[in-house]
Amino acid sequence: GFVVAVAFGTAFTVVYNESRVETSGQHEFANPVAIPPVVEPRRGADGRDHVDLRLQTGTTEFLRGKQTRTWGVNGSYLGPTIRVRKGQHVSIHVTNDLPESSSLHWHGMRLPAVMDGGPYQEIEPGETWNPHWEVKQPAATLWYHPHPHGRTAEHVYRGVSGMLLVDDDISDALELPDDYGVDDIPLIIQDKAFTDDGQLDFNGRGMGPGSTGILGDTVLVNGTHDPHLEVTRTVTRLRVLNGSPARIYDLGFDDDRPFAVIASDSGLLPAPVERTRLRLSPGERVELLVTMEPGETSILRSHPTDLGGGFPADRFAGADDTLDILQLRAKTTLEPNPAAPRTLSAEEPLTAPADARVRRFELSGTAFINGESMDMGRIDEVVAAGATEIWEVRGAGLPHNFHIHDVAFRILTIDGREPPAWQAGRKDTVFIPAGSTVRLVVRFGTDVDPATPYMYHCHLLYHEDSGMMGQFVIVEPGQESSTPRRLDTGG
Ligand code: C2O
Ligand code: CU
Repeated sequence: GFVVAVAFGTAFTVVYNESRVETSGQHEFANPVAIPPVVEPRRGADGRDHVDLRLQTGTTEFLRGKQTRTWGVNGSYLGPTIRVRKGQHVSIHVTNDLPESSSLHWHGMRLPAVMDGGPYQEIEPGETWNPHWEVKQPAATLWYHPHPHGRTAEHVYRGVSGMLLVDDDISDALELPDDYGVDDIPLIIQDKAFTDDGQLDFNGRGMGPGSTGILGDTVLVNGTHDPHLEVTRTVTRLRVLNGSPARIYDLGFDDDRPFAVIASDSGLLPAPVERTRLRLSPGERVELLVTMEPGETSILRSHPTDLGGGFPADRFAGADDTLDILQLRAKTTLEPNPAAPRTLSAEEPLTAPADARVRRFELSGTAFINGESMDMGRIDEVVAAGATEIWEVRGAGLPHNFHIHDVAFRILTIDGREPPAWQAGRKDTVFIPAGSTVRLVVRFGTDVDPATPYMYHCHLLYHEDSGMMGQFVIVEPGQESSTPRRLDTGG
């Protein structure tokens, strides 16, 4: 309640200068976690399923008695969960009622570049943008967020984000918890720094040169402060999104209970993988199955994280923080749910042909890929439609992560070693430990458009906004060398 919020606020001011935050034990988990509503599409005469989204300003009461100025989609903070099916033709009408231009990017979705919602598809205030595409990928937990040039961190931090779930026949046929909001729960995890009067603080810890971008000491789940989830079934599916600008979470339960990882960013794993911890960097998703006994409680918590390369955790991304995220509260009687199926996806793992093209990317400082900063007029890479390539990403110095639009990839190796099983499935975003080299096998799409780039970038949003981003286009095979490397961006 109110007293807790004040006490927490005080504790947070005290520890603020010490860079280490201990919130364990300070929480009452007083608030039921909000569940974003599912938006119902309307079937149009064109055979497409239409969804209306409005980016808007508002105020949200995160902390009792304090009105925080926020942005959201069809509401004051965050947006509805959009649910689409493989094979469906979706048409989304995005109206921008924000005071400045923004965009909406479908993170993890395979679609034509003009529908991607990156910096080439910014929407001016008062305008409506209408991308449409056919869903051509397997079931997965994707998400959407703004991607305006140089201002992604701010727009996401203010609150514009939501879940984008893909279903297919395979996911339908599996005996997985799929009662949305009951035993199938989206968890959008975001850290915030609040000013004394309850406004979002943009100048908190993590800002400044050589840094990560905004870090907060208060964690919201689906926009709920100090949240709990009432568990009513023996097995609960958590679809976890790290929707934070910079923070890297090392997730696990306070009682170290094991959980089954069933999916990563772009789809189901071949089989469930049991873990007690996993690291999730900004933009990454996992789906977990958690089993509980009647009457139990357990706290989902972020633990101090190893950033790789001996990188000091207290210097980056709040990696030495312990933060309580969500309390699970099992009712005294639970309805039974089946245990995790033994096998999930039957999809063949992505493999690269022996002669696959290898491209190398070195991330350095907070703004450079291969020594260059993002230039919207420059095409960095030209890729043949449908190609399978090896992308080798090296982090020089700081920890980073790496996201590629329009694709799913598989991690081949991290510093020459195979990734742990939970990271070996379909992904679109990967953590790059400090000083590490991560090799990816990447399957590109077939929507040819030599004039509209897709992005690849660090998903620490301050790094992305600072220029740690590049562009690629998809061309007909054989057209790679004749494709112009400059674009007229009108300025
Ligand atoms: Cu989640 Cu280029 O974005
Ligand atoms: Cu980075």
